[in-house]
Amino acid sequence: MDWGKQNRLSQLIKPDGRCYFLPIDHGYFQGPTHCLEKPQKTIEPLAPYADALFVTRGVLRSCIRPADSLPIILRVSGCTSVIGEDLANEALTTSIEEIIRLNAAAVGISVFIGSKYEHQTLNNLATLVNECEKYGIPVMAVTAVGKELEKRDARYLALCCRICAELGASVVKTYWCEDFHKVTEGCPVPVVIAGGPKCETELEVFEFVYDGLQKGAIGVNLGRNVWQAKNPVGVMKGLRAVIHENATPKEALQVFKG
Ligand code: 5RP
Repeated sequence: MDWGKQNRLSQLIKPDGRCYFLPIDHGYFQGPTHCLEKPQKTIEPLAPYADALFVTRGVLRSCIRPADSLPIILRVSGCTSVIGEDLANEALTTSIEEIIRLNAAAVGISVFIGSKYEHQTLNNLATLVNECEKYGIPVMAVTAVGKELEKRDARYLALCCRICAELGASVVKTYWCEDFHKVTEGCPVPVVIAGGPKCETELEVFEFVYDGLQKGAIGVNLGRNVWQAKNPVGVMKGLRAVIHENATPKEALQVFKG
């Protein structure tokens, strides 16, 4: 692997092989989402516990100080909204020059496999990989389901992750599901667990992350279950313990309470 790409990946994936990405990109199709109305205010107390931020260029430029920023995974797909016709109808939003200018450690893009826009979004991924490989920039593919949350089972997610890897993604972000080992075992590149809608309890979050890590994921990219929680810093501390200190869900709950 090229030195530059290795260097970028090692900014994101820590020496223990694990990672904790904090996504605050939701505004790109949801607008001012609950608890993310002022991104800077949301990020500041949480940043010390994250390994990288997943963010659009707009929020990066307006809300994040360049001098002391965490490594950035730049969200580079979009052009849809929750009130529009179809969330899957995404395009590439950010040029390779802009990605380089912003010194992104990686880029992230959604694909919607099985949707009307499967070909378009997979073609977006392939095009982005072609551009990014020229400059050693890793691509994180996001296996998105839009509003069809029921799609999240091992057979579907294994298919999606494998296709993303085959098209050249360096990392794949996907939802946790039962039998998660079937997803990671069929994917030749690292898999990161996405969050999804908010869980009832913190213990549930620690449990699915713990299970995903035991079954081969290398970390998480988890947003709403953190910054929409009553105690976001506590959740982040608990998750960090699961990810980087191999804490069990019960131990993480103690960290959260402590
Ligand atoms: C949106 C995204 C988000 O980064 C992803 O959904 C993670 O956030 P959350 O944990 O809130 O689901 O890629 O498509």
